Amino acid sequence: MKKVTKFSSALLALTLGLTACSSGQDTGTKETTDKNDDTKKSEEVVKIVYARGKDATKATEEIVKAFEAKYPNIKVEFREMPSDTGAQHDAYVTMLNAKSSEIDVMDLDVVWPAEFAQAGYVLPLDRFIEKDGIDLSAYNQGALAAGNFDGKQWAMPKFIDTGLLFYRKDIVPEEKVPKTWDELLTAAREFKGQGGTQFGYLMQAKQYEGLVCNAIEFIAAYGGKIVDENNNVVVNSPETIKGLKKLVEIATSDVVPSNITTFTEPESHTAFIEGQSPFIRNWPYQYALANDPEQSKIVDKVGVAPLPAGDKGSAAALGGWMTAINAYSKNKEAAWEFVKFMTGPEGQKISAIYGGLAPTLPELFKDEEVLKANPFFAEQGFVDGLNAAVPRPVVPNYPEVSEIIQINVSKAIAGQITVEEAVANMEKEIKAVMQ
Ligand code: GLC
Repeated sequence: MKKVTKFSSALLALTLGLTACSSGQDTGTKETTDKNDDTKKSEEVVKIVYARGKDATKATEEIVKAFEAKYPNIKVEFREMPSDTGAQHDAYVTMLNAKSSEIDVMDLDVVWPAEFAQAGYVLPLDRFIEKDGIDLSAYNQGALAAGNFDGKQWAMPKFIDTGLLFYRKDIVPEEKVPKTWDELLTAAREFKGQGGTQFGYLMQAKQYEGLVCNAIEFIAAYGGKIVDENNNVVVNSPETIKGLKKLVEIATSDVVPSNITTFTEPESHTAFIEGQSPFIRNWPYQYALANDPEQSKIVDKVGVAPLPAGDKGSAAALGGWMTAINAYSKNKEAAWEFVKFMTGPEGQKISAIYGGLAPTLPELFKDEEVLKANPFFAEQGFVDGLNAAVPRPVVPNYPEVSEIIQINVSKAIAGQITVEEAVANMEKEIKAVMQ
């Protein structure tokens, strides 16, 4: 099966090229020497607030524990944000528009840094990176580039996400793990109802960011794109139409729950760990969660495979999260220590072991404990999948582009418009907001 590597690596190369062109030099910003910053008085205990979406795993708790043990004069309070990335985005924007200092550190979805940088919501990190001699070449360059905008690094890469197919090893024999989307539909029908399952396949089909990721995977698997390497809008193509038709076919079939258009990651992962489906499309964290005996009924029963292929190969969306500092934080130095720890080797190792998250430090893929917790990290298919992952359009007004995709794909799933109409609308509307 031919992979869509060419398409994706061209886009990645573009992002890398952009990073290479930027000097990465920060001229030093006033904000970072804020005199309110009390962490320099080492005898004082500073409290910082760290915000991110709900963590279904124990990773955040373990990172905070390890960090506080290493930095006894910094206490981290965890602020749980909505797990729907769009809702989380809006909550940060509301807070930061009001110049609020109530959070110090926050996780940013890979699609936000350009927007947050341009709006002045987050601090450039170059001064800190330089001061502490952080070796940026040790990071996955695509992931690093997602936090680079206008020649500065605004967020440090914490983990990479890529769409994967998880299946029940106890229900689906190895040779029946589907290699194409058509095989997925057949296999989901065949195994639905077996081993106590009620559904055949789970995905994320609610009108939100996760739907954009699912859609991009179908579109790219059939050779389509939303924008090309130069951000030209090329969504209205026979390939995109074919990919989206397959998405609609699956999302409206009898293998998914009838309310699949209300499913985000938590709804789908919960149904999967409850043992309700032989197959799910999800991000790598699904594996650690499925093997957590406190939450899962399917411990040791899960296999991992690349997403099924369309006629141009298998394609996975590139996701992931970065960590940034609120530009209005009153504890910037302490905030940086936490960002540095969490996105450095120690923090990323904890994320990988407890959270099943794929590191942005490639070196950690060789770490024995990381591999023991996530055996599929050692598989060539996973590594290839990460390298071939398809990014979403890299533009500062990405939320508007995303909303257009979400609305039109949702309407097509609901049967309110045809897929042909959906791509024609997307072409017109995306062109208008990207001008
Ligand atoms: C995951 C990905 C993120 C994506 C989101 C969609 O959290 O890491 O990039 O936007 O899912 O729901």
